[in-house]
Amino acid sequence: MKIAIIGPGAMGLFFAARLQESGQEVWLLDYRPERTAHLKQHALRLITLDGEDRDYYLNVVYEAHAIGPCDLTLVTVKAHQTEAAAAQLPLLMADGGVALTLQNGIGNLETMAAVVGPERLLAGVTTLGVTLLEIGRIRHAGQGPVLIGRPPGALVTDETLRLIVEVFRGAGLDCRETADIMAAVWDKLLINVGINSVTALTRLRNGQLLIAPEAWRVASAAVQEAWQTALASGVKPSPEPLSRMRQVCQATANNRSSMLQDVLAKRQTEIDAINGQIVRLGITLQVATPINALLTDLIKALELGLVSGATNVISE
Ligand code: PAF
Repeated sequence: MKIAIIGPGAMGLFFAARLQESGQEVWLLDYRPERTAHLKQHALRLITLDGEDRDYYLNVVYEAHAIGPCDLTLVTVKAHQTEAAAAQLPLLMADGGVALTLQNGIGNLETMAAVVGPERLLAGVTTLGVTLLEIGRIRHAGQGPVLIGRPPGALVTDETLRLIVEVFRGAGLDCRETADIMAAVWDKLLINVGINSVTALTRLRNGQLLIAPEAWRVASAAVQEAWQTALASGVKPSPEPLSRMRQVCQATANNRSSMLQDVLAKRQTEIDAINGQIVRLGITLQVATPINALLTDLIKALELGLVSGATNVISE
């Protein structure tokens, strides 16, 4: 299968390495020329779960024209880069080709559908742990399933969906097809709503949320609002989101959440696709979401200082 991956972050690189190793033709599309140059000249080093170093020479390009039509396009960019990634899809999707988003948050599917329509889109959710150590070096930090399914409006055939699941399995990944992918997307979203912004603001590691009652209270209130929003929108996530959040905090106790990592690296966060989407949906569905609105505003204010260096404009 010819596969394009838009976004060589930790997850994109990991999937590229494993899929290429299993015999698929994989192409990575980057949007940062200096990183493309680095990845072209150097092997990607993947530190496996057993602590072994493995090197991979990947096909990395800067322009979608250099790849051409593919059977499968994975979108693994940060949520705020989805619009730019979606603009590449017409060049990358062969007739009958499929695009699969494996991103955090919600709203990514709609952005992609605005360019190529919903018919050939798939959604996926992964709880795999992969950490970017530096350009060209990643660590596989935790196992977790990859769930794939058809979102509303998708007309991807059973045969194609199964073939894609088999391709992931062939790469040694625990990939499963799910009938209700939107419930799975929301299951993950509800966890991200609680953990990500609160850890980014407090700089606590995930496990520390369990021993900081004030932080836990805020995270829980945000999740409760998101849960009400999910129900009002007709989605059916798994019950007891707070006990699931507790389990995730325990299972990933030493991890810094992806949003805390973004803040520490002075990168734009995915707040708009996580708590921000809860606020937007809450307005439409008339569900009150004051905690999510506050968390979104605080992270945006934090980003302003970190990303644009706005802290420096305050001078004597
Ligand atoms: O975004 C993240 O960091 C992860 O989805 C999670 C589950 C919160 C663990 O850190």
